Amino acid sequence: MKHPVFKLNNGVDLPAVGLGVFQSGEDGTVDAVKTALSLGYRMIDTAAAYGNEAYVGQGLRESDVAREEVFVQTKLWMSDYGFDKALHGFDRSMKNLGFETLDLYLLHWPQPKLFDLTIESWKALSRLLDEGRVRAIGVCNASVDQMRKLTDATGITPVLNQIESHPYFAQAALRQAASEIGVLTQAWSPIGGISRYKGDGSLDPLNDEVLVALSSKYDKTPAQIILRWHFQNGVSIIPKSTNPGRIRENADIFDFELEASEIAAIDALDRGERAGADPDVASVQYFGRVIED
Ligand code: A2P
Repeated sequence: MKHPVFKLNNGVDLPAVGLGVFQSGEDGTVDAVKTALSLGYRMIDTAAAYGNEAYVGQGLRESDVAREEVFVQTKLWMSDYGFDKALHGFDRSMKNLGFETLDLYLLHWPQPKLFDLTIESWKALSRLLDEGRVRAIGVCNASVDQMRKLTDATGITPVLNQIESHPYFAQAALRQAASEIGVLTQAWSPIGGISRYKGDGSLDPLNDEVLVALSSKYDKTPAQIILRWHFQNGVSIIPKSTNPGRIRENADIFDFELEASEIAAIDALDRGERAGADPDVASVQYFGRVIED
């Protein structure tokens, strides 16, 4: 089944569900990409910082699907921020992927304390867009104010903002404000995998009674209910899995529809507490990660 698409603010189509590969290693990434493409996925999210761009490119080349049929996005890491460094970081990612052009290039974190560098990096991404080396550019973990500043500096508004979003930290207000300036929201950790790293597991939305009840009603798993909720809220999703059964499950969400009251019930699970890194403090030092050639 062909997946539905979201229309980005520059007219490019983004398949509504993509494969995430955060923390997928070499074999895991190659196999997950091949499995996903064979099951109808046409979108993949990676990042320079994940260290697996080369395996994404390899998986795509070893699949039966042509490069131009797949929407691939990757991200510039903070140690490559700055105009010239960003262009160099892009070349490194393209070499790793083995691609001529990229579908979407994203700034990984906004770095509010070094925002001038973020703006210089955004100017470099705008240059890549002008040159036709990328089809679209966007951001991750950004506020509306930060996105406006990037637009003011270049005339180019990000096509999307990839943020932590799952039932316990939905970020509905940010999503709404972003949509008012034409920016699509894309959820990272869409089924709340990041919450499971915390505490005793009681924060896992997959065990939430509201989601478990809807799972029985629709004969879908709690993960599918969550992914469908994102989709009906107009949110792009990139669930990570290296398990073939779960890769299949995560895209099998287009044959049922949640009622408005059910969407509202899931919206109401929001605790307003992030599980992942805070964009205000995320920096090269925070993650202790520098990417080198
Ligand atoms: P695995 O790769 O073994 O499937 P998120 O993208 O929200 O952070 O979630 C990713 C985490 O959730 C990974 O640990 C992944 O493990 C697991 N996962 C992915 N899909 C499902 C699913 N359909 N049901 C349960 N767990 C899942």
